Amino acid sequence: MTEGVFKGLEENRIFQPSEDFRKKALIADPEIYAKAEDRLAFWEERAADLSWFKKWDSVLQWNPPHARWFDGGKINASYNCLDRHLEGPRREKPAIIFEGEPGDSLVLTYAELHREVCKFANVLKSMGVKKGEVVTIYMPMVPEAVIAMLACARIGAPHSVVFGGFSAEALRDRINDAGSKVLITSDGAFRRGKTLPIKQNVCAALKGVQGIEKVIIVNRTGIDIEIIPNRDVFYHDLMKDASPDCPAEQMEAEDILFILYTSGTTGKPKGVVHTTGGYLTGVSTTHQYIFDIKEDDIYWCTADIGWITGHSYLVYGPLTNGSTIVLFEGTPDYPEKDRFWEIVEKYKVTILYTAPTAIRTFMKWGAGYPDKRDLSSLRLLGTVGEPINPEAWMWFFKHIGKERCPIVDTWWQTETGMIMIAPLPGVTNLKPGSCTVPFPGVKVEILNKAGQPVQNGEVGFVAITEPWPAMLRTVYQDDNRFKDAYWSNWPEKYFAGDGAKVDEDGYFWIIGRVDDVINVSGHRIGTAEVESVLVEHPAVAEAACIGKTHELKGQAIAAFVTLREGVASSDELVDELKKYIAVKIGAIARPDDLYLTEELPKTRSGKIIRRILRDIAEGRAIGDTTTLADSSAVEALQKLSRS
Ligand code: PRX
Repeated sequence: MTEGVFKGLEENRIFQPSEDFRKKALIADPEIYAKAEDRLAFWEERAADLSWFKKWDSVLQWNPPHARWFDGGKINASYNCLDRHLEGPRREKPAIIFEGEPGDSLVLTYAELHREVCKFANVLKSMGVKKGEVVTIYMPMVPEAVIAMLACARIGAPHSVVFGGFSAEALRDRINDAGSKVLITSDGAFRRGKTLPIKQNVCAALKGVQGIEKVIIVNRTGIDIEIIPNRDVFYHDLMKDASPDCPAEQMEAEDILFILYTSGTTGKPKGVVHTTGGYLTGVSTTHQYIFDIKEDDIYWCTADIGWITGHSYLVYGPLTNGSTIVLFEGTPDYPEKDRFWEIVEKYKVTILYTAPTAIRTFMKWGAGYPDKRDLSSLRLLGTVGEPINPEAWMWFFKHIGKERCPIVDTWWQTETGMIMIAPLPGVTNLKPGSCTVPFPGVKVEILNKAGQPVQNGEVGFVAITEPWPAMLRTVYQDDNRFKDAYWSNWPEKYFAGDGAKVDEDGYFWIIGRVDDVINVSGHRIGTAEVESVLVEHPAVAEAACIGKTHELKGQAIAAFVTLREGVASSDELVDELKKYIAVKIGAIARPDDLYLTEELPKTRSGKIIRRILRDIAEGRAIGDTTTLADSSAVEALQKLSRS
């Protein structure tokens, strides 16, 4: 193998990071994989790297599917992200470099961030927030969002961050499920030179919600907003007199750190529960080892804090490790399509972690944009959220990494909390399109339905066969759903919902979801969620959604709808239904295609045959139709495929 270049067949190119990179890497010895075979000893040693108020009594108690990691230990996530860095030189080190959409920037050192977090933690206490009470955060990517998360963690109030792009209704459902009394938000958000009405969405969401007592508003855009007296209060007013003295609460290792809602295979989103000690152990270790973190790195994860990547690899992992993070409010194309590269140049970013969707979009825009900028500070690149096609991998490698920077393709999920399959760039050779091998101390297998390992090269289901420290502990208020969704296929083994195969070198190739979840631009949308919104519309009798291949987004949503008796189909109705979904869930769930059809293809037992719908949406010839209950449905659908 030639160093730093590709060799071999198109589909099996291997890349070895340069000797220089490997020599300087934090983890340079492959021995780590063998050493971590003693999983509990490995994770215990890693946990010891954090700051604990009290050491744990046991590393793991495993009563499948319930795990308790580092039970008896006492710890605080905010303390680990802040206080422990204040003793030495990290005190004055930038924790957050914020780049606002309009081009404003702000640097907060660890000492400054600590002060802001302590003050806001006292504000939350003065609002009556108690340990264990869930606080909802609905905010754009501004430093106050990170401050709010860490302030919650400091006083032991689990946070539930709702992605700022979700609609009022989606926000309402999540507030109700979490039972929050306090909501933290902003007046608006900047988006491509305009402002988004965040607070207006909040007001709409809170109509009919009894539980919320206080809404704390960060002034970001200065737009006019409606204020409800006694309920709505301004962040900056509250912060003026808040005391900067707020010792971190001593939390049990197994106390909840946060809830994060994610789409599943039913209409109702699941509140994935993560706890404190194990989660921090998992995210800090993976962040450090996979991103080869050094003291002077400028680390930029482009994910929104509304997703798990924002939680684990923008906030908790990097701050626990004392890294400098870049926090960017805007989009890659505003004011120009070189905004990302401008930021890399401006702050001398060394590590960039982003999504394949973004990379494919950059490819489409052309290499001219990155070529104009100085990207020589970059030394490592990462991807997450969906499979990366080798072509996009190569483009990223060549035009952004300038054939110098290894790319770490990281496979994981909201539920896993931490990265599970990814290279250690100083040790693992890379193959474009493969997330390579499980992280040390993580056990992943590809199984068939019966739970037997499949042969190398055969496609099967991703199973995690041993508990891991950052694993989800349950679904909020719904432990049965937790058991059904993840642990009912094979006893004691976690079902990830992904299909994958392993090649002859033991490298994992993720194919995609095997359940009714569509991955749009790296974000999960349950088909059932979209379908249940559609059937709420008075014109709709029945609906079915599927994911179709999309050049940039990976997958896009296609919806098939039958109308109620007497409702006439029209282009206006198609537009109205698409808009209806965007209003009810958020723009991300808006279908690219929506077909009005007389019938949906069903089996004799009434199950919708989604395979046929996929054929139509992808413009393929309709495959096997022998299981159809009624062949007239095919004729109706064939008309669609020709139209
Ligand atoms: O299908 C896999 C895909 O994203 C799903 C998890 O989505 P979510 O919980 O929203 O978390 C995304 C960020 C961690 C997985 O079931 N996925 C994630 N990373 C990869 C991936 N598919 C292929 N390669 C990846 N690196």
